Amino acid sequence: MYAGVCVREMQERDLDAVLAIEQSVQAYPWTRGQFADSLDAGYWCQVDEADGELRGYAIMMPAVDEAELLTIGVAATQQRKGLGRAMLGGMLELARAKNMRRVLLEVRPSNMAAVALYRSAGFSEVGLRRGYYRDASGSEDALVMACELLDGTNGAGEANG
Ligand SMILES: CC(C)(COP(=O)(O)OP(=O)(O)OC[C@H]1O[C@@H](n2cnc3c(N)ncnc32)[C@H](O)[C@@H]1OP(=O)(O)O)[C@@H](O)C(=O)NCCC(=O)NCCS
Repeated sequence: MYAGVCVREMQERDLDAVLAIEQSVQAYPWTRGQFADSLDAGYWCQVDEADGELRGYAIMMPAVDEAELLTIGVAATQQRKGLGRAMLGGMLELARAKNMRRVLLEVRPSNMAAVALYRSAGFSEVGLRRGYYRDASGSEDALVMACELLDGTNGAGEANG
């Protein structure tokens, strides 16, 4: 587990800092409006903040008994220290506590860091959406990944955390 993890709910006042991280680490960043809409919609929006510095964020959208991880990002200076895994593990715990059956996500297959993070947290590949993302050459497929929460087979998030 990331030693200094300090997760709290995202507030509207965090949006400048969240957007600054998003724009520096994501090849295709979300807009401010997308983050604001997620807050307004009541999605589960979390940030990690230490000593007044916002270091990461994650957003999950609940839907009946499934939740979808919409985005996760860690500031470039904080990457590869376990924060992404800790934040994702916290989101999975929240989903489990809210009796979600599973968590789904879509990811670019070219995003090797994210795919590796998700696999290490217990996600496996369950499908492909062809041409889902735009990219420089036109479009890129989306890998659909799922983490089953209620069948007792996916403790990997905690075990690795
Ligand atoms: C994906 C991301 C959130 C990972 O955050 P992080 O804090 O750096 O990840 P962690 O340090 O917790 O790493 C957990 C595991 O993920 C994998 N991983 C993370 N970064 C990796 C990299 N650059 N290359 C390969 N694997 C990587 C590894 O399996 C790692 O475990 P290990 O360090 O024991 O080998 C971060 O790279 C990021 O913000 N990327 C840009 C935003 C993005 O692509 N988000 C996902 C799509 S919305």
